[in-house]
Amino acid sequence: MEYQAKELFAKHGVTTTLGEVVETADAAKAAAEKIGGVTVIKAQVKAGGRGKAGGVKVAKTADEAHEHASNILGMEIKGLTVNRVLVTPATPPVEEYYFSFLLDRSNRSHLCIASVEGGVEIEEVAKTNPDAVKKISINALEGVTVEKATAIVDEAKFPAELRDQAIEMVQKLWQVYVEEDATLVEVNPLARLEGDKLEALDGKVSLDDNASEVRHEDHAQFEVREAADALESKAKDLGLNYVKLDGQVGIIGNGAGLVMSTLDVVAYAGEDHGGVKPANFLDIGGGANAKVMANGLDVIIHDEQVKSVFVNVFGGITACDEVANGIKGALEILGDEAKKPLVVRLDGNNVEKGRAILEELNHPLVTVVDTMDGAADKAAELANGA
Ligand SMILES: Nc1ncnc2c1ncn2[C@@H]1O[C@H](COP(=O)(O)OP(=O)(O)OP(=O)(O)O)[C@@H](O)[C@H]1O
Ligand SMILES: [Mg+2]
Repeated sequence: MEYQAKELFAKHGVTTTLGEVVETADAAKAAAEKIGGVTVIKAQVKAGGRGKAGGVKVAKTADEAHEHASNILGMEIKGLTVNRVLVTPATPPVEEYYFSFLLDRSNRSHLCIASVEGGVEIEEVAKTNPDAVKKISINALEGVTVEKATAIVDEAKFPAELRDQAIEMVQKLWQVYVEEDATLVEVNPLARLEGDKLEALDGKVSLDDNASEVRHEDHAQFEVREAADALESKAKDLGLNYVKLDGQVGIIGNGAGLVMSTLDVVAYAGEDHGGVKPANFLDIGGGANAKVMANGLDVIIHDEQVKSVFVNVFGGITACDEVANGIKGALEILGDEAKKPLVVRLDGNNVEKGRAILEELNHPLVTVVDTMDGAADKAAELANGA
């Protein structure tokens, strides 16, 4: 979130203003009084486009700060509920630039994206005037040296008066990116303030979990568990690789690639069934035993949006009969809680044995379908209430 990104910026010497994060309108008023003068009340959610959604408001007085905060708190932005706002001094930008470093997987490299036409319309600028958005590849071994930072600043055409400040800021943002093991460091707007001061007025940082756990104990403080993330939070506690999506067909599969394709076929099949969509990503990995299967089902069936569940497993090291026993065991563990129809597609190692186990189980909720497309279609049909 912005306030956390700004903490990391400050830690590495990137010019920014921290402001105060609060969870009630009264606290927002108190913060505005303390800051004095005109303030900005900003929704703190892990999404862009907050300004356009009405989540960023200027308050001339503390009472206005109270009013804006009470409107913004509880608001939904891109499906996320706003539970806290940042109260920060208003520092009207003279110009707004866009700047980011990110992991460029397709080129196996790091990428810098910079534009002097930043601000809330940056996506629009990228579409209508792509030349104004510069993309500069960063050699991972060389990093961002003074020379590289200078090249970036010149290519993006930062104004001459700001050149030195920009070069320094680019290097510090690279320091945030590298030293915090980030996969994204984004500043939009990187603002030119009154008196030609450059300041990060907004920030977004994605940290690499794989590094955080072992290299950055202090990153745990950035984890914010929202009520809306209850399912993801539960999945995390259970050690599951789960991502909640906006859909009706719960998905369980083994192997990230298979699960990704499963999402695709379900979305495709959904087009014929009222537009239902996959409800989540869940990769149960290699060991699809009863406990893992039960944990996975437990998370998915408690997603209120979910109307049906598609279990798509390709038996490799874990044979299909083990998976079938896993499903059987999971249904026993969950008992009456398992209320949603389950479409199962098994293939691969010991597929016949696996299917036989499910056939014998003859559970009223379970439908076995032999093909992936057929199963996706069935799951979508059931989710659509047919
Ligand atoms: N402290 C501030 N003082 C004055 N204006 C501000 C301040 N913070 C933000 N703004 C203005 O509000 C706009 C939107 O704010 P911000 O970029 O933080 O939110 P956003 O909508 O989430 O942006 P993005 O679409 O980049 O995610 C900025 O482009 C800027 O013009
Ligand atoms: Mg922004």
